[in-house]
Amino acid sequence: MLNIITGDVLKTICQCLVVPVCEDKLLHVDPAVAALVDKAFKIKEFHGKKDTFLLLYDVDGVKAERVLFAGLGPHASLNAEAFRILAGKSVKKGIQNELSDMALVMPDADAAGLPAEPLASALLEGAFLGNHVFDAYKTEKTRKPLKRLSLFTDSQAAEALAGLPGRVEIICRGTLLAREWVSMPSNDKTPDRLVRSFVRAAEKEDLSFTILDEKSLKQNGMGGILAVGAGSRCKPRLLVLDYNPYQNQKTAGVKQTVALVGKGVTFDAGGISLKPAAHMEEMKSDMAGAAAVTATLITLARLEHHFRVVGVIPVAENMPSGDAVRPGDIIKTYSGRTVEITNTDAEGRLLLADAMAYAVKMFKPDILIDLATLTGACVVALGEKIAGVFSKDPALAGEIVAAGDATGERCWAMPMPDDYKTLLKSEFADTNNVSDTRHGGAITGALFLADFAQGVRHAHIDIAGPAYAKKGGDYCPPGGTGFGVRLMVEVMGRGKG
Ligand code: BES
Ligand code: ZN
Ligand code: ZN
Repeated sequence: MLNIITGDVLKTICQCLVVPVCEDKLLHVDPAVAALVDKAFKIKEFHGKKDTFLLLYDVDGVKAERVLFAGLGPHASLNAEAFRILAGKSVKKGIQNELSDMALVMPDADAAGLPAEPLASALLEGAFLGNHVFDAYKTEKTRKPLKRLSLFTDSQAAEALAGLPGRVEIICRGTLLAREWVSMPSNDKTPDRLVRSFVRAAEKEDLSFTILDEKSLKQNGMGGILAVGAGSRCKPRLLVLDYNPYQNQKTAGVKQTVALVGKGVTFDAGGISLKPAAHMEEMKSDMAGAAAVTATLITLARLEHHFRVVGVIPVAENMPSGDAVRPGDIIKTYSGRTVEITNTDAEGRLLLADAMAYAVKMFKPDILIDLATLTGACVVALGEKIAGVFSKDPALAGEIVAAGDATGERCWAMPMPDDYKTLLKSEFADTNNVSDTRHGGAITGALFLADFAQGVRHAHIDIAGPAYAKKGGDYCPPGGTGFGVRLMVEVMGRGKG
C-alpha cells in the first residue's frame, strides 16, 4: 500500500501526482518539480494558500494523468501536522474522484524546515490515515480507498527512508483498527463480543491473553467492574493482553514492563444517573481507551517492540435497570478501598480502579498509563482535539506531551493539586466517586484514579475529546479517531514508556 518511489518525476506513471506548494517559498529543489510549481502559479486563482488546491489534467511533459497542487500557506506555518493534513486532504480528494493511486512529491527537507524522516513520515501517515473509509454498515459502498499511495523522492532520500513505509503502515493500521472498534455500534460490541473481537485480532500476533468473566471477577473481588456492569444484561469482562519479548529471549539488556489500562465502556447510558438524550449515541465511543490499548499492543507486537507491555482492559456496559448500581451504593474495589458511588455516570473510574490495581499487583510494572474517555469536563477544558495528561510525575507527563507533539495526537499536562482530594471525601466510605461540584471535574477524576496506582509511576490520559470526531477530521472519517495508538507507540519508542 505505502511505498517510496524515485526516478524522473515527469516520467512517473500514476493517476495523480500531488505537489505540496507554499505561498511564499519554493519547497522543491528538483528543477522539473520547480517548473511545475511555476506553471501552477501562472494560473490566476492559485497562490498556494492553505487548504487550496489546483487540479490540472494532461500537463505537458508529465506522464501522470493529473497533477494536484496542494497549498500549505506561509512557510512559517509549516510543521509535521501541516504535511499530515495536506496528504490526508489530497487522498480524500483522490477517493472522491475514484482514483486508485496517488504519488505525493516529497518537498526538500531543508526547504521545508523539517528533517527528512519526520517529513516523510507525516506525508505517509496523513495519506494512509486519510485513505480510511468506514462503510461496514452501508449497503452501498460508494467510496473506495486508494490501492496504492507512493511518496516520490530523490534516490538518496529513498535509500535512507527505505524502512519507513512499512513501519508507518504498521502503526497506522493500528490506528484504523482502533477507529473501527470505536465506530462500531454498541449492539455489535457488547462486552463479551468486544472482548472476543479484541482477542481475535490479538491472537494473530505474538500476544498472550486472559479473560476474566463475571464469575472470576466476583472471585477476584472486582467490585468496581461488577458495579458498572450490574445494570446490563451483557455481563462485564476483564481482558489482559501480554506482549512479552523476554519470554522468547528476543531481547537482552534492561528489562522493563509498562502496563496500559484502557476504559472499555461499550455504551455509557449513565446508569441510574441517566444521561440526557442529546448526543447519547456518541457514548458508543466510551470504549475508545480499550480500543487504543488493544490496538497499541497489536502494533507493538507487529513491530517486535523491545520491552514488555501488558494491556489491562476492563469492559462493561453502563445501563440503568432494576439490577443497576444505585447512587449511594458502596462497593469494595479490588484494592480493598471502598467507594461510595454518588453518581453512576462516573463509571469509568470504577472500572479503571480495579484494572489499575490488578495491573500493579499482577505485573509490578515500572510505569502505568491509562487511557480513558473519562470526563466531559476535560472536553470543556481542552476542546475536542487535545487530550489531558494527569500525572504526579512531571518527567512522564513531559514524555507523553512530547510524543503528542511528534505524532499530532496533542496532549496537555494538567495539574494534580493534592488539596482538591478533599472534594472526593465521603461520609461513609473511603472515597466518593465524584466531587459535589462540577468544577475541576477532569482533575478530581484523575485524583481519584491516582490512588489506585499504588505508588507506581502513573499517568492518566483523558481522551474524551479527541477519541471521537462526529464530523471527521483532516485525515479521519467521521467516527472513532484511533487517538492514542500512534501516541502510545511513540511513547514506547522513546524508551521511557
Ligand atoms: N463517558 C463519560 C465522559 C465523556 C463525556 C466521554 C463526553 C466522551 C464525551 C463519563 O463516563 C461521564 O459520564 N463522566 C461524567 C462525570 C461526572 C458524573 C462527574 C461527566 O463528564 O459528566
Ligand atoms: Zn459516564
Ligand atoms: Zn463513561
